[in-house]
Amino acid sequence: MCGIVGYIGYRDAYPILIDGLKRLEYRGYDSAGVALMNGSINLYKKQGKVADLESHVGAQSTDGHVGMGHTRWATHGEPNDINAHPHCSASGNFALIHNGIIENYSSLKAKLTSKGYTFQSGTDTEVLVQLIEMIYSESEVTPEEAVRLALNEVVGAYGIIVMCQDEPGKLIVARKSSPIVIGIAENEYVIASDATPIIAYTKDVIYLNDDEMAILTKDSHTIKTIGNEIRTPFLQRVEMELEELEKGGYDYFMLKEIFEQPKSIADSIRGRINPNDNSVWLGGLVDVHERLKNAKRFIFVACGTSWHAGLVGEYLFEEYARVPVEVEYASEFRYRNPIITEDDVVIAISQSGETADTLAAVQIAKTAGALVLGVVNAVGSTISRETHAGVYIHAGPEIGVASTKAFTSQVTVLSLMAAFIAQLKGISSFKSQEVVNELLQIPEKVRTILETNEDIIRISDLFKDSSNFLYLGRGYNFPVALEGALKLKEISYIHAEGYPAAEMKHGPIALIDENMPVVFIATHDESYDKIVSNVDQVVSRKGRVIAVVTEGDETIRNLAEFVIEIPKSHPSLMPLLSVIPLQLLSYHVAVMRGCNVDQPRNLAKSVTVE
Ligand code: AGP
Ligand code: GLU
Repeated sequence: MCGIVGYIGYRDAYPILIDGLKRLEYRGYDSAGVALMNGSINLYKKQGKVADLESHVGAQSTDGHVGMGHTRWATHGEPNDINAHPHCSASGNFALIHNGIIENYSSLKAKLTSKGYTFQSGTDTEVLVQLIEMIYSESEVTPEEAVRLALNEVVGAYGIIVMCQDEPGKLIVARKSSPIVIGIAENEYVIASDATPIIAYTKDVIYLNDDEMAILTKDSHTIKTIGNEIRTPFLQRVEMELEELEKGGYDYFMLKEIFEQPKSIADSIRGRINPNDNSVWLGGLVDVHERLKNAKRFIFVACGTSWHAGLVGEYLFEEYARVPVEVEYASEFRYRNPIITEDDVVIAISQSGETADTLAAVQIAKTAGALVLGVVNAVGSTISRETHAGVYIHAGPEIGVASTKAFTSQVTVLSLMAAFIAQLKGISSFKSQEVVNELLQIPEKVRTILETNEDIIRISDLFKDSSNFLYLGRGYNFPVALEGALKLKEISYIHAEGYPAAEMKHGPIALIDENMPVVFIATHDESYDKIVSNVDQVVSRKGRVIAVVTEGDETIRNLAEFVIEIPKSHPSLMPLLSVIPLQLLSYHVAVMRGCNVDQPRNLAKSVTVE
């Protein structure tokens, strides 16, 4: 979703704001703007990219050591210059930027309109800044008190920064559901939606919690709730390194993140396997052993790629720990009035930790009394803090909108969790040693697969102009088929569908002809003979088969037009390997089609609104 950056200190704010907004571009947006305080508020905003904003600003004044910047992902009011943020109050005394949705903006707008307020934009955000002004002028309170009182009337999600000309040396920050991080340095603060714009200046941060606000001057910070309780800030240190945020010589973050997977998978494992006996230890779950052991059911709630990881998790948990598992789209789960009991363990899987639907599912599960765990990448993110416990995937920042390394790290952590629960339950049928041994070899096997990149470029070139793709797999490879299809469609805009391979004869086989590329994930496992006949069925109808196979496979090599060989591993760990060629295929096809791989059209990295 959109990005927020704020600065208050001794430096010129403008370059810091622009650099910060550029570091947040990956989050997806449609317009950008800045406001600078230099005696009065100087505001520039423009539909389009941050570069368009810079051109718009041109040689105009950008003085000021206090400022804020915003990239907007429209929810109310079409993307245009007027609806871009910051928004000013009627008198021009207040300026505000906002990430989120003011759900009761209509009723607030009606109240303001009845008092003679008029509106320039079609956004929900402008209602908030006008409400602040109304309270400020009617109640004769301080600017931060006016903000606090206004927020008590708001229903919805917000991450905001507010400036007031009457107190030019102050920034007022507040959050509810939309993340805000405050970086603290010597006589300066950098505020942002996540840590990426901050760590160039400091690694000491405060993650603002829901219903909290911060009042910042260049050398002081006060944290309080919107209920007016002073809070002691909890200072944390961000471990991210700046170079992690650079592309490291790759053309796109997505390719960098694909090639980071040997490391990111190793990082997900690090410190969680006892080398003496290959037992698994997950420190984040230390307080919930009994509830894990006695759980009657596990429910995964997630969206998109994270939901695909949950599907793999279903196979893992049921095979290793012999426990019933359900996998739910969070967006459906939250409105279905689901039956949840205290014997359930709900696991929220989310790379960003900010996905609105997944967060809502977490709240529902908590209210119902379930144990709610998080499998999250972004440290300090809302879902990671709203769940009772959890396991961070430690994949490092994932900048590309198309999730790659987060998926493999999610599956890695889910395999560790499944093994951990099997250990707790003493499941004798689970061969922990064998599986853990195989898991420890996965990073090197991924490195081997990445060496097939050139072969995949050649295949991509042959299929880049296709209009449709089918992805087919069985068992553990069925979720990989879904993930491969999602990767292709979201970055190359080619329509692609994933199916269980056996499902073909129930309809989709009607689609097969010489124009239909069919990607089979056909590695050696107990259903191998079945999938060989599925390949045969497609080939005999002139379908063009690209098959991901276990190295040394001759059977499918004689059937398929192209094969991509990958190393063998335990069948339950094959998704960590079989997904890699599909990530590369989607990346190269998208690049050959001239698509913006890191920022695909219509998409955002984290969907923090419904
Ligand atoms: C996957 O490539 C997409 N970016 C999208 O489906 C994503 O997985 C989904 O929005 C969930 O995001 P999360 O993992 O941050 O919750
Ligand atoms: N709801 C606000 C708008 O549509 C903010 C959207 C965002 O998070 O960028 O302008």
